[in-house]
Amino acid sequence: MNGNYSEPIRNTTYPSEVNGNCAADTAPMDSDFTAQAQAVGLAIEPPKFFAGKKILLGVCGSIAAYKAALIVRLLVRNGAEVRVIMTASAKDFVTPLTFSTLSRHEVISDFYASKEGLWHNHVELGLWADAFLIAPATASTIAKIANGISDSVLIATYLSARCPVFFAPAMDLDMWKHPATQRNIQFLQQIGNHLIPVGNGELASGLVGNGRLAEPEDIVAYLQQYFAAGKNGLAVAPPVEIIQPLHNKTVLITAGPTYEPIDPVRFIGNRSSGKMGIAIAEAAAQMGAKVFLLLGETNLRPTNPNIEVILTPTAESMYQQAILRFPQTNIAILSAAVADYKPTHQYTEKLKKKDEQLSITLEKTQDILATLGKQKRDGQYLVGFALETEHEEKHALQKLEKKNLDLIVLNSLRDAGSGFQHDTNKVTVFDRQKNKYAFSLKSKQEVATDIIQLIIQKIPSLIV
Ligand code: CTP
Repeated sequence: MNGNYSEPIRNTTYPSEVNGNCAADTAPMDSDFTAQAQAVGLAIEPPKFFAGKKILLGVCGSIAAYKAALIVRLLVRNGAEVRVIMTASAKDFVTPLTFSTLSRHEVISDFYASKEGLWHNHVELGLWADAFLIAPATASTIAKIANGISDSVLIATYLSARCPVFFAPAMDLDMWKHPATQRNIQFLQQIGNHLIPVGNGELASGLVGNGRLAEPEDIVAYLQQYFAAGKNGLAVAPPVEIIQPLHNKTVLITAGPTYEPIDPVRFIGNRSSGKMGIAIAEAAAQMGAKVFLLLGETNLRPTNPNIEVILTPTAESMYQQAILRFPQTNIAILSAAVADYKPTHQYTEKLKKKDEQLSITLEKTQDILATLGKQKRDGQYLVGFALETEHEEKHALQKLEKKNLDLIVLNSLRDAGSGFQHDTNKVTVFDRQKNKYAFSLKSKQEVATDIIQLIIQKIPSLIV
């Protein structure tokens, strides 16, 4: 730690291999760069939300401290510069090395660096930050903060900080309910600190109730909403209920394969697992949306209670549900691998083996995406997928146009680790202006978050 917290922020990084070229690793993501990148045919990732933001994370001694590592990862991945302060007891749960590795900065937990005899300047650190997040915030640290007891570098920094402070408590339910804790929390809110509400569920003690640390994605979404709400990111806090950009939005998603019956035991299907669409449903629900998931033949199920699953095993049942629900939908994302053809005749009894050859006549199914493209009203946002094996970009752009989409997500079966059955995916997204967003190979959950975040950035009314 050199005591200089005003060094220029790390620049956003970009995918390094695009069309065989090397994109500038350290180029700033501004409109000039974007235009230049597109002019020379480079793909770009969307701007990172926290680019330019300096976030100080205070970690207290709680079993939930491990979740703070994910918070750092999410913030850094989204462009923030993060520095971490730990209390002494936090180090019993997670090592400073975890946080220094993820934040790429030294972690502070003492007033002095004992080996070098250097004083850690908590005042400068408090002034450096654009936001100070304390997560997990234990009952003990909350109580000390509320009473100005500066017995750790974390609390000393808090007392010196001039930036907005967010605290995400984590404790057992009786500690949470205790009048002393509630009084302290109320006091911190009264003096302008922002409470990130606790979650409800199973606690480390085995008891069930309030007191869980909010999920890392929700904590980061809260900060994102806060920054999005204020001029230059630092003015006004949003109301507590608007911590998620898709709050009050309805998202319709299709996922998985359809199976088109030949007879009671046989069908025409495909190798889609449904993982990508389910991950998108989870990501949308995580951002606050009410999600209707039209799910084809798969045993996988989402977990978020805001996702209503409607089983639609055939193209026809998926089509019926989609047209029924689309008028009340804000965003529709059609990722299902819908069969393009179905048997014209469906046998009611099992087909017996007779002749040497068997011909089954197939007829086209309804194209759900194209139908929704025709029905789309102003304000509705429609996203399709394209799975291609050749002339990928050309075919994807043709589908975008032909089906009247706002965005198309292209997977190429030529990319290793992409497409059906894998837990990873590599996608390239195009919008109507032919902007191209190339993402690297990631887990399907990460790809889902990228897609949902890109959609949010593309819909101006969603940016608070
Ligand atoms: N789709 C759909 N209904 C269908 C067929 C496809 O809603 N009956 C949707 C898919 O969910 C996907 C998009 O259309 O979002 C593209 O699907 P894809 O199979 O790649 O393209 P097709 O339009 O079927 O064209 P082709 O098979 O010729 O590539």
